[in-house]
Amino acid sequence: MKTTFTSRALTALGAVGLTAAFSLGSVQAREPYTQAELDKQQKALWAVSKEGYDLWHGSKPSMSTNGLGCGNCHPDGAAANPQTFPKFIPAFNRVATFREMINWCIENPQAGKALDVTGPEMLAMEAYAFQLHRGKPIEPGLAARQTSPVRVEYGKGFPSKPSMIGKDTRE
Ligand code: HEC
Repeated sequence: MKTTFTSRALTALGAVGLTAAFSLGSVQAREPYTQAELDKQQKALWAVSKEGYDLWHGSKPSMSTNGLGCGNCHPDGAAANPQTFPKFIPAFNRVATFREMINWCIENPQAGKALDVTGPEMLAMEAYAFQLHRGKPIEPGLAARQTSPVRVEYGKGFPSKPSMIGKDTRE
């Protein structure tokens, strides 16, 4: 009994020591970001989101064999509901990610070739959709109850030219 207590106490002390080592070592609170750094980060996000916008509007031919782009059925990202994932998707009969649902739509309504789920293009698609839904409460599972599409209240936030497939009305 005593031994157990002692070894537990030692383990706890070890954990404290480890925490102390971390806080004194490399893991330290950094200075707040400067405005220049924030601007750089925002520009980087916009660039990725802009690529997502292009993909959403048909810039990658392999994503569709029937001429449809995401923007045809999901203008302004309508009814894509990124803020409701992860959630149960009846077609998969399990809880799935937003990225899996993007690929589902590429392979089914667009009869195209799925994107690499961990690749830069999938990241771009996700960034664009989330960009349009910023400010929405995160509500995993919401649309599994078949609610109406969640309205997009904010524009894209980044400059872009209109594309030929689908359109975004909230510039
Ligand atoms: C022909 C119309 C059509 C096209 C084109 C289309 N989708 Fe969909 N999408 C749908 C339908 C219909 C559903 C609903 C499927 C369901 O709930 O079973 C859906 C559902 C989704 C969902 C899940 C929404 C939710 O609330 O669960 C996402 C995300 C999505 N689509 C993204 C995309 C993306 C990205 C593209 C382009 C690669 C795309 N869709 C192209 C018709 C389309």
